[in-house]
Parts: sequence; C-alpha cells; structure tokens
Amino acid sequence: MNLSTLVATSLHTVTAVLWIGGIFLAYRVLRPAAMQLEPSERLSLWMGVFNRFFPWVWGFILVLVVSGYWDWMVRFGGFEAAPFYLHVMHLIGWVMIFLFAWLYFVPFARFKNLVLSYDFVEAGQVMNKQMRPIIALNLFLGVSEAVIGASGPFWS
Ligand code: HEM
Repeated sequence: MNLSTLVATSLHTVTAVLWIGGIFLAYRVLRPAAMQLEPSERLSLWMGVFNRFFPWVWGFILVLVVSGYWDWMVRFGGFEAAPFYLHVMHLIGWVMIFLFAWLYFVPFARFKNLVLSYDFVEAGQVMNKQMRPIIALNLFLGVSEAVIGASGPFWS
C-alpha cells in the first residue's frame, strides 16, 4: 500500500472515530448529566458545547470526504469498480453530512438565537424536538458506517 493511501485511510478512520465518539458523549453521557441543571444553565452549556464541537465536525467532514475519495480512487480506481459496501458507505456518508448541515444552519441557528434572547422554554423545545432526533440518527448512521467500513472488505 502506498504512503498516500496509508495516510488517507488513517485520517479517514481517525476523523470517523472523533465524530462518532463526540456524538456518543454528547447524547449518551453529557445529556443525562446535564438534566440536573436549571434550564437556563443547561441550555447555555449546550450552546457552549455545540459552538466548540460543530466547527470540529466541519473539519472532520472535509477530511472524511477528501480521504474517502482519495482512498477510493487510488485503491478501487473509480466508481464502477467499487464493491457494494463502498456505495453503501458513500450514500450513508452524504446523508450524515446533509443531516448535519441542516442541523447546523436551521435548528441550531434558531437554538442559539433563542438562548441568547433568554427564551429557554422555546430553546428547550427546539433542542428536544428538532436537534436531538437528528443527533440520535447521525449517531446510528455513524456507527453503521464504522461497521460497514471495517467489515465491508469481508462481505463477499
Ligand atoms: C463521502 C463519503 C465517504 C467516502 C467516499 C468514504 C470512503 C471510504 C473508503 C474508500 C474506505 C476504505 C474501504 C476499504 O478499506 O475497503 C472507507 C472506510 C471507512 N470509512 Fe468511509 N467514506 C465516506 C464517509 C464516511 C463516514 C461519514 C464515516 C463515519 C462517520 C466513515 C467511516 C469509515 C470507516 C470507519 C472506515 C474503515 C476504515 C478502515 O478501512 O479501517 N466513512 N471509507
């Protein structure tokens, strides 16, 4: 395997682990722990967490896409020659990216405005009804991508 593919595969795996791991911590660990805080403190905490995590996610997405296509082109030589699992990874990958982009530019943008204007009741609604289901879905899709990426080469 040439050096560029080694680097691409490693960067791809590391950014996948950091993205999925960050969602897991937020959803399964921080969320229940933050429930003991008052709504104003809890929602301000979440704004602080997402304001710091989401820029990293944009970076992870850039590295995942570039390293994924690089690895794909160098090792599989093009879309036609690619095994089935890679097409599944590709599709799920873009679904995750579009879900995150929507989360970032729509409910999260609204959530920030509501927290900054101290409307914690409405901010809590946006968090629970609009943001949390997308975060849960991307956690499920991310774990699926990891399974597909690791086990895919052994499917056939
Ligand atoms: C545009 C989107 C994507 C493309 C083109 C892509 C492409 C690839 C390619 C070519 C491989 C190597 C497959 C092999 O070794 O046979 C791979 C592996 C992998 N991908 Fe993706 N991927 C994408 C998105 C994602 C996303 C969003 C995640 C997780 C959040 C992800 C996680 C993984 C993992 C964990 C592996 C296994 C790494 C390894 O080979 O050890 N990928 N991907």
